[in-house]
Amino acid sequence: MTAYPAFVRIVEVGPRDGLQNEKSAVSVETRVTFIDMLSGSGLKTIEAGAFVSPKWVPQMADTDKVFAAINKKSGVSYPVLVPNEKGMEAAVAAGVKEIAVFAAASESFSKKNINCTIEESLERFAPVMETARRNGIKVRGYVSCVLGCPYEGDIKPEAVAKTARALYDMGCYEISLGDTIGTGTPVKTRAMLQTVMKDIPAAALAVHFHDTYGQALANILVALEEGVAVVDSAAGGLGGCPYAKGASGNVATEDVIYMLDGMGIKTGVDIAKLVASGRFIAETLGRATASKAAVALAAKTE
Ligand code: HMG
Ligand code: MG
Repeated sequence: MTAYPAFVRIVEVGPRDGLQNEKSAVSVETRVTFIDMLSGSGLKTIEAGAFVSPKWVPQMADTDKVFAAINKKSGVSYPVLVPNEKGMEAAVAAGVKEIAVFAAASESFSKKNINCTIEESLERFAPVMETARRNGIKVRGYVSCVLGCPYEGDIKPEAVAKTARALYDMGCYEISLGDTIGTGTPVKTRAMLQTVMKDIPAAALAVHFHDTYGQALANILVALEEGVAVVDSAAGGLGGCPYAKGASGNVATEDVIYMLDGMGIKTGVDIAKLVASGRFIAETLGRATASKAAVALAAKTE
């Protein structure tokens, strides 16, 4: 029998990864309501936004206003993305307790996404880490393109391990491995994870799958088998990266919770409340949810 983790922590990225790719900006009020509904469902980590350049990602403008207005529940973490010292200044001013820095396993993606090489991005993070330490702010690290790059195609597991190790060594408490364009499949996922885990313990890893090719749940199952117990996902399957053309949304949180509930793995999330949060944002954006579990559960209660 495969040993699965008894508890999985979900990192809900809908309010950040989900909304950063919307054609029109979503109001502060909607973002706040969405985040408060998500925390009401029992989620313990909810990405609240990003202190990135509004010229690059206008959808994440006003993250300070969103952060100020959300109902900060005790025991819930509301991390925000920070790409550089300017973003870190904004994060400190807003009073955030956790940030995420983001790098890539692909040079071309790094250039398109944050306008610098991987090495330069790591150098930029050094003073950010220092400020975080001084202010008692936790730092998570992302590695993008771990199973493929929109510009370079295949990415070697060793390239993923190199960036992941650099982020871990500089003090990130957790490294989230991002399949940015959702091209990964289970056998490749296992090989990538096993390479990364030569340097970093499974307890310090998370997986972040976009579901472009419908492979996310299968890949998550493999990650659980490898001992990873933190999964990023977005309510309603929202999401995409503005600098990864064709990438679709993150795996839907509802689908992940349905799978974990069915496996007897605890998450602390009430799926009915989560489905209501996903419905709220889908209706506000005027589109159907991308979550199959949400559709099926809604049909049952109609
Ligand atoms: P740049 O143009 O090289 O930066 O962008 P710069 O330092 O030359 O500054 C340009 C302008 O931006 C200046 O303003 C700065 O003040 C301003 P101007 O003088 O022209 O008026 N600026 C900022 N403003 C607000 N906040 C800041 C900031 N920094 C500079 N922090 C930069 C470099 C990194 C800023 C830019 O490329 C950027 O913001 N990129 C963000 C891209 C992004 O958010 N991508 C999506 C998130 S990553 C993702 O989705 C992947 C993930 O989900 C995992 C996965 O799926 O793989 C995490
Ligand atoms: Mg992403």
